[in-house]
Amino acid sequence: MKKRMIGELLQNYGTPFYVFDIGILKERIAYLRKHLKVDLCYAIKANTFILKEINDHIDRFEVCSEGELSICEHMQLPMSKLVISGVHKNPKIMRQLIERKENIGIYTIESMNQYVLLKEAAKQNHCLIRLLLRLTSGNQFGLNEEEIYGIIQDAVGNPYIEIKGIQYFSGTQKHSLKKLKREVSYLDEFLISVSDKTGFSIQELEFGPGLPVSYFESEEEDEESFLHEFSKMLESMTYKTHVVLELGRSIAACCGYYLTKVVDVKVNKHQRYAIVDGGIHHLVYYGASMAMKHPKYEIYPARKHADAQSWNICGSLCTVNDILVKQLMVADLSCDDVLVFKNTGAYCMTEGISLFLSHNLPTVIKVEEDGSFCRIREAVRTDLINMPSGKGE
Ligand SMILES: Cc1ncc(COP(=O)(O)O)c(C=O)c1O
Repeated sequence: MKKRMIGELLQNYGTPFYVFDIGILKERIAYLRKHLKVDLCYAIKANTFILKEINDHIDRFEVCSEGELSICEHMQLPMSKLVISGVHKNPKIMRQLIERKENIGIYTIESMNQYVLLKEAAKQNHCLIRLLLRLTSGNQFGLNEEEIYGIIQDAVGNPYIEIKGIQYFSGTQKHSLKKLKREVSYLDEFLISVSDKTGFSIQELEFGPGLPVSYFESEEEDEESFLHEFSKMLESMTYKTHVVLELGRSIAACCGYYLTKVVDVKVNKHQRYAIVDGGIHHLVYYGASMAMKHPKYEIYPARKHADAQSWNICGSLCTVNDILVKQLMVADLSCDDVLVFKNTGAYCMTEGISLFLSHNLPTVIKVEEDGSFCRIREAVRTDLINMPSGKGE
């Protein structure tokens, strides 16, 4: 982020806060589309503040809870673009959705119970629903292979059910092309076996490959060749079907910045500590190895000389675990300096332990493509959540 922009934001808003740069976000989606050449489904759990801005650039939105659904409704996203997903589907909400005859894009099926629930609701309301059957990767999510064959056979001739295909997600931040290759081969074999065993042709594979983001200074990856190799894997699948990639981190991370201010400095037992007004409840870097890895960041104001010292950057929580970075080399760190952490557009504001110690949730700011900015969420008080809401009985 340009220094002038950081200065302007700091003049207008108190730290800590998140900034999401919509220009960077749209460029990122265009980049992924160019290199992957498939449709994109955005897993909204990564960042729910950017949905409207990317609506025209994303083919689908994966929604995993009642809360996420209500955010999509509030943002007036087209229901036809929603993939209603999630390991727990509230029967009441599912029945209501089907009863309302909303033109929901697709529902995923994670268990036999979910299948029965949706099948019966569709029949009762004479409503056609489209399904993706989630294949398990060996955990609590999804269905096993035999169950999938069974559902496909059961759905034959059912006028209210259209099985579109298979959904698969096995984990996030996969740096290994070998691992991805194994997954793609497994999926390819499975799709062939579905066709062999049931005679049913799978129209689409919605695959969450967990594409990685390089968060740390040591990790300079050649992303272009990584994506090229991955794209070749998908193209060389024997089973030809429409592939949709379900992505969160890889789409949203790069548009985000988290700004937090140094509020105290001290030396304890020969170690320098800087306390910032944010903390690990706002900043989640996957694979940070107990803060040993150094995330990409900037410091404001910029340092005038390079006489760096080693600092431990700690947050405002009452836990020794609240360390953002260990042994960061910075010159002249002092109170009121601001650290600008990069790549914070995914999961930081949705995955953090944000209620601990009743600190406010940070302000959220959006920067438009022309450089103008505005606040899209005020800081939220969590003390109100962390206390009884009435007088009691
Ligand atoms: C089912 C599903 N799809 C997609 C994603 C997005 O993963 P990522 O952010 O690694 O792209 C997740 C993340 O948890 C998920 O659970």
